[in-house]
Amino acid sequence: MSEEPCTYVIFGATGNLSRLKLMPALYHLEVAGRLPEGTMILAIGRRPWDRDKWISEVKDMLIAKARNGLDEKVFEHFKQRLHYFEGNLSDPNMYTAMRDFINNAPDFPQHVAFYMSIRPAEFGVVVQNLSEASLLDEEHGWRRVIIEKPFGSDLESARALHQRISRYLREEQVYRIDHYLGKGTVQNVLVFRFANLMLEPLWNRNYIDHIQITHSETLGVGSRADYYDNAGAMRDMIQSHLLQLLTLVAMEPPVSMEAEAMRDEKVKVLKSIRPINAVHAQAVRAQYAAGMVQNEKVKGYLQEDKVPQDSVTETYAAIKLFINNWRWAGVPFYLRTGKRLAEGQSMISICFKQPPQQFFRANQIQRMRPNWLLLGIQPTECMKAEMTVKEPGLEMNTRQMSLDASFRTDKDVAKEAYEELLLDVIKGDRSLFLRYDEVEYAWRVVDPILRVWAMERDYIPTYPAGSWGPNEGQRLFEREDQDWRHSLNPD
Ligand code: BG6
Repeated sequence: MSEEPCTYVIFGATGNLSRLKLMPALYHLEVAGRLPEGTMILAIGRRPWDRDKWISEVKDMLIAKARNGLDEKVFEHFKQRLHYFEGNLSDPNMYTAMRDFINNAPDFPQHVAFYMSIRPAEFGVVVQNLSEASLLDEEHGWRRVIIEKPFGSDLESARALHQRISRYLREEQVYRIDHYLGKGTVQNVLVFRFANLMLEPLWNRNYIDHIQITHSETLGVGSRADYYDNAGAMRDMIQSHLLQLLTLVAMEPPVSMEAEAMRDEKVKVLKSIRPINAVHAQAVRAQYAAGMVQNEKVKGYLQEDKVPQDSVTETYAAIKLFINNWRWAGVPFYLRTGKRLAEGQSMISICFKQPPQQFFRANQIQRMRPNWLLLGIQPTECMKAEMTVKEPGLEMNTRQMSLDASFRTDKDVAKEAYEELLLDVIKGDRSLFLRYDEVEYAWRVVDPILRVWAMERDYIPTYPAGSWGPNEGQRLFEREDQDWRHSLNPD
């Protein structure tokens, strides 16, 4: 795949996502020498700034976020790429003026990527305006549009958004970002599964008891209540990131690692998820109340800025899913996420079945423990396999040991998900972006839950900030000996 220079147009360039993720990612690509020579970055913002002001703003963003401090020499080069265009997104004249600006500057490459770092409600109108200003025509170079989740707020609105943007864009021009897919360990799930034969015979209902996928955060809703209170944990994390993780863990080997082959297999998993009929048996929600997080007193969700007093928005959600296919029939998948939990981490925990006979049990009070395979996604990137071994000594006692296949060494450079994804757009590699049918089938999974929760507006259970969530989370488990796995270490 070629890496030709392009013009990266960023709508909403002065907003949070751009400050915290996009500009730092582009700068880190510059540091790594991966931005094709001639690539330009055109920020679109409403503020009456000129180019110099924008450059100094970007410098401040980078001083705050550059991994090893800002490298002045790299920045001197990077800033040549930075341009600013003042404009109002709802004004159609802005788009024709922007088109003339791009066309008249000889330095701007004609391959153009438009990054929608804006409110989802604006996606439709911006795409329409781009099209009407002929900015999506691919006569002189490719035109790609990158959109961030949420892709709609339920099945119906996702379809409506899709219909609207497909009037102006071919599917190949749309890059739907799920930044989780840019995380190194998430991609490693595929390598782990499809480059190592050893586990494949075990990777099914005959050997696996259940699978847990957890994303927990210690942070609260912060300044994002405007968005979050209408979304909630189910839409914000489960419908998108966690279902994506589930597809990678559960998918069949694709015919190749090409984008379409991979996405075909992921969609098959989503299609095979047994529809949820008994919402209360399969889903739990809760909201954080005041509590202590890492020794600091924190407010409850209802006391956060801009959260309505009667909000029943969930800040914690957990679900149990079954995949109706030969590989996974009967294996529960437990997904959970929450804000203001005890620890911030993402991990996939695979619990194997008990050996058929408990030979070494007689002289132990405890039942033998099953094997676990743990994939730490963040902050610790690792792979561990827990085994039972004999304790040194005269007695036949056992303990859990962990085989550690962590792959990050001190010498490896960490990277942020957005770096890879922004580069993939330039390369035209869509394998880490979502195809529309993935979005559609993910909504179909969670829609029945959202519909029931939308009607139950009188009450939501709470959990103290700093805990591992509500006690209700426990009732999803099929058996008493199953429990949430919180740690990468054997306990
Ligand atoms: C975002 C959600 O998509 O992902 C946030 O909107 C969440 O609420 C974030 O905090 C988690 O991503 P990461 O990469 O910070 O773990």
